Amino acid sequence: MGEKVYLKNFGCQMNVRDSEVICGILKKEGYEITDEPDGADIVIFNTCSVRQHAEDKVWSEIGRIAKIGKMGTVPKRRGQSPFSPQNRPLIGLVGCMAQNYKEKIFERAPNVSFVVGPSDIAKIPRILNDIIRQGKRGQSPKGGDSPLFQLKIWETDGDIRPEEIYHTGFYEDKEHAYVVISEGCSNYCSYCVVPYVRGELRNRNYKEILKEIEEAVDKGITSITLLGQNVNAYKYGDTDFVELVKLVELVRGLKEFSFITSHPKDTSLDLFEAMADSEKLKKYLHLPMQSGSDRILKLMNRGYTRKFYLDLADNYRKIVKDATLTTDIIVGFPTEAESDFNDTYNLVKDIEFDAAYIFKYSPRPNTKALNLDDNVTKEEKEKRHKIILDLQREISRNSNIKNQISK
Ligand code: 5AD
Ligand code: SF4
Repeated sequence: MGEKVYLKNFGCQMNVRDSEVICGILKKEGYEITDEPDGADIVIFNTCSVRQHAEDKVWSEIGRIAKIGKMGTVPKRRGQSPFSPQNRPLIGLVGCMAQNYKEKIFERAPNVSFVVGPSDIAKIPRILNDIIRQGKRGQSPKGGDSPLFQLKIWETDGDIRPEEIYHTGFYEDKEHAYVVISEGCSNYCSYCVVPYVRGELRNRNYKEILKEIEEAVDKGITSITLLGQNVNAYKYGDTDFVELVKLVELVRGLKEFSFITSHPKDTSLDLFEAMADSEKLKKYLHLPMQSGSDRILKLMNRGYTRKFYLDLADNYRKIVKDATLTTDIIVGFPTEAESDFNDTYNLVKDIEFDAAYIFKYSPRPNTKALNLDDNVTKEEKEKRHKIILDLQREISRNSNIKNQISK
C-alpha cells in the first residue's frame, strides 16, 4: 500500500477541481487518498489567496498541524518525540498562496517541505518521489545556501498544465463533475490577485474538454459544471463560449450542465438565447456586479457601467424564463464614499438577486488597487457589509416566498 495522502482544500470551485486533479494523479502513482488527517503520511493544503482572511485560515491550520506532529500517532519507542521527523507528516502547500509567497512560505512555516504553484501541480508526484523514494529531502536542486532552504523543494515557474492531468477519471462525486475550460485570467480587475497567482488566461482545446466530459459521462456522471475565472472569454480557434456550450449540449448521456463564473463585459445576449433554447443548461447565472457605482467600477477596471449591468440583468431575465441570478459584491473598496455605497445598495435593491455574496475589500499583493488609499475604515466596511447582507437576506426571503406561492 502506498503512502497515505490527506488533502485539505481551501477556496473556490476551481480549487475543488484542482484538488481532485491532484488526488487523481497521486492515486495513479499508487498513493492512497484518505479523508482522515489522522495517520496521514503526507498532508497537502490547496490554498486560496483571494482575500487576507482566506490566507489567515491556512496559516493557522499549518500551525495547528505543526504542533501535533503526525496526527494521531503515538511515538513508537518510549522517549521518542512525536515531533521527530519519523512521526511528522510531510507537509506541502500548493495553489494560490504557494504562487503568492513562493519560497517565503518556508520562512513563515518551516514545517512545510514543498511548495507548488497552481500551474505546476502536475509535478507533485515527481516531487514526492524525489523526497520519499530518492531520499532527496535535504538535497533540493534549488536548495541555495541557507540551511532552511536546503530541506525544501518549490516549483512555481510553470505556465501550461499538461492535458493528461484532467483525464485520470477521478471524481469525488458520483453524479456531478467540474470541468475546467480555461485557466488563469487576463482581466486584471484592480483588486484581484488571480492574474498574478494563476497567470494569464489559457483556454483548453474544446476537443479535450468534450473528451473529458464524454469520459466522465461513461463513468456515470450526469451533471457538469464548466469552470473558468471568466468563462465568457473562452476562445479556442474559432470556437467561443457560446459555441462550446452548444457542443456540450450535444454530449450524449449528459443530463444537465451549468457554468461559472461569468464576467458582465464578455457576456452576450447570444448566450442567454442559447440558455433559453437549451434543454440541458441550468437556468442559472452567477454574474459578479462588484459595485453599483460607475466611479468605483472604473477604479476596479471592470469594463462596464452600472447601466450596462442593469440592462444585462434585465435582458437575462427577459430571455431566459424562470432564471436564477446571483452575484458578488465588494464593499469598502478604496475611496468608496457614502454615495458610491448607496449606488450599490440601490442597484442590489432594484435587481433583486436570488443570492449575493458580499465581501469586504481586502488589499492584495501586486494589485493596482494597492496604489489607492484604502481609506474606508474597518468599522465602516463592516457596517456596509452588514447593510447589504441584511438587504439581500430580506430580498432572498421574499423571493423564496414568491417562488412558493407561484408553485
Ligand atoms: N477583496 C475583497 N473581495 C475580493 N474578491 C476578489 N478579490 C477581492 C479582494 N481583494 C471577491 C470578488 C470576486 C469574488 C470571488 O471574490 O467579489 O468576484
Ligand atoms: Fe479576478 Fe477580475 Fe479575473 Fe474575476 S475577472 S478572476 S475578479 S481579475
